[in-house]
Amino acid sequence: MTSTDTSERTDVILASPGAEWWRTAVIYQIYPRSFADSSGDGIGDLPGVTAHLDDLADLGIDAIWLSPFQRSPQKDAGYDVADYRDVDPLFGTLADFDDMLAAAHGRGIRVIVDLVPNHSSDQHVWFQEALAAGPGSAERARYMFRDGQGENGELPPNNWESVFGGPAWTRIAESDGTPGQWYLHIFDASQPDFDWSNEIVRDEFRSILRFWLDRGVDGFRVDVAHGLVKAEGLPDYTPPADADSMGGGEDDVPYWGQDGVHDIYRDWHALLAEYAGDRVLAAEAWLPTPEKTALWVRHDEMHQAFNFAYLETGWDADELRTVIDQSLAAYHAVGAPSTWVLSNHDVVRHASRLALTAENPQGHGIGPDSPGKPIPEVGLRRARAATTLMLALPGSAYVYQGEELGLPEVIDIPGDARQDPTWFRTQGERYGRDGCRVPIPWTHDAPAYGFSPSGASWLPQPAEWADLARDEQVSDPESTLSLYRALLSARKAHSLGSGDLAWIDGYADDVVAFRNGDVTVVANVGDQPVALPAGNVIAASGPVAGGMLPADTAVWLAAD
Ligand code: NOJ
Repeated sequence: MTSTDTSERTDVILASPGAEWWRTAVIYQIYPRSFADSSGDGIGDLPGVTAHLDDLADLGIDAIWLSPFQRSPQKDAGYDVADYRDVDPLFGTLADFDDMLAAAHGRGIRVIVDLVPNHSSDQHVWFQEALAAGPGSAERARYMFRDGQGENGELPPNNWESVFGGPAWTRIAESDGTPGQWYLHIFDASQPDFDWSNEIVRDEFRSILRFWLDRGVDGFRVDVAHGLVKAEGLPDYTPPADADSMGGGEDDVPYWGQDGVHDIYRDWHALLAEYAGDRVLAAEAWLPTPEKTALWVRHDEMHQAFNFAYLETGWDADELRTVIDQSLAAYHAVGAPSTWVLSNHDVVRHASRLALTAENPQGHGIGPDSPGKPIPEVGLRRARAATTLMLALPGSAYVYQGEELGLPEVIDIPGDARQDPTWFRTQGERYGRDGCRVPIPWTHDAPAYGFSPSGASWLPQPAEWADLARDEQVSDPESTLSLYRALLSARKAHSLGSGDLAWIDGYADDVVAFRNGDVTVVANVGDQPVALPAGNVIAASGPVAGGMLPADTAVWLAAD
């Protein structure tokens, strides 16, 4: 099968889907540097993860996905990997990783690790060798080196912009000190793109996959899965001014969604299939529609793709119904489960995003001078309702650390504390993603709210987070944590992940209502209360007294 047959392959009708765990799993994203710090250096680490596995088991999730913890100079919080086969000392050691993995498995929690194949760090030995080796060498051919345009090669090879702002090319000095070739970096200049047309790169990543599979990981979240292959000839491209940084809304971008990527994932699919235990590949692919994203999860490619179309849907009933319908249809057509996600380490946390009153493209973030800042109470109410809706949907769902505490985006991070390369590369024009990455609070009365024994925190935590700490919420039945625990437990008890969705008619347009198995779900996305149907309330995102469902509230009901 060649890589140019995309349209024919979309319609492949598959054998009925199997019972693999990832089809229905709730996967909790750990952003290690902000989860729990055991060493006191203000950066979370793997022993910190191990120490909180009981809390995660208690929450009721099925698996964890860890953002990168491999060796890295941390120019992009670990998404700049210098050694794919080792743990960065900031996070611990390989032995700490093995301990964490065994402890998670011992609790029935599966473990997915991040794989960053689009680019490495500029400190990776291959890139250092490429710099030393010179133009035309085999070492340079592992990356995207090109001669510049202009009389003396002084202009970049094309007009591509970095996702983080500024040009996507950097010119190097050759070893004799003269201005030399340019290399492509779709992200930061410290993140040179690999050349995936080079078989040596493909071999290396097969070996990296095996390294982690042999250690026992249950799968990979594949970073920038839509970006590895670039269009022939690297044609110029100018994104629209309001584009999402990762290309979510755009078609025909020469560095996103090229057909050639699918061959890579077919190869990896076959490699994973050699291992027992339903290992999974989950695509981070920002594409304009669920139909396009479904191309990444055809039966012999990846198993799951993040449903960013769902994440990017506003608090609007019509839009929610549409994206849910499109997602279920598109993924089912290729035999894959839909996934659902509302927050991650690259987007404004949904407890703030759903109450923004001004446009805010993904990756731009919010800060002190942003227009349309959210009212926190509205954001939290909507976030709780949105999660109640999401966790009732059939398929697999992702939860980002801290959303179970109702954490909002942190808006007031001082400029000199910000760390996202986006902030620096746009000279502060875009705040970037630090606001969703602030270390999470565990304990009200502890240094750094229990994040770090020393009280250090790589990004400052707001004082209001003391009241959102896990220990404040754990025995409060009204807390967001209690809501998540109730939802996750009922989702399992009623097998919602493997269920089917049937819309319920008869409500006002701004109500989203459906049945999944024996559970009725009603989400009031409007601003007027609506009458609740008959049934026992299993879980509710807010008070539902008097038979009425208030605005921005969602409920699960079971038949009397
Ligand atoms: C997507 C990751 O989620 C993001 O955090 C990172 O900056 C880019 N890929 C580059 O690796």
